[in-house]
Amino acid sequence: MITVRICVGTSCHLNGGHNVISSFQHMIEENGLHDKVTLEAAFCMRECTKSGVTVTVNDEKYRVEPEKARSFFKEKILPLTIG
Ligand code: FES
Repeated sequence: MITVRICVGTSCHLNGGHNVISSFQHMIEENGLHDKVTLEAAFCMRECTKSGVTVTVNDEKYRVEPEKARSFFKEKILPLTIG
């Protein structure tokens, strides 16, 4: 199981955290990955910056811009679900 955590702290929320969550939910739906990927909300991970949302994929940290959430999912999460 791949665990993806999306920060819902104030700064990340203001940077579009909700949009990142909903993009990831759509990608999971479209690719039938409910049994492979779990999404969790996380508190502030002390990585707040002016842009992007903190996301961890199996504890590896990334910053994700909401408009790039789908391509991030394709590049960093989808390959982990294969095999
Ligand atoms: S609010 Fe997300 S890392 Fe601080």
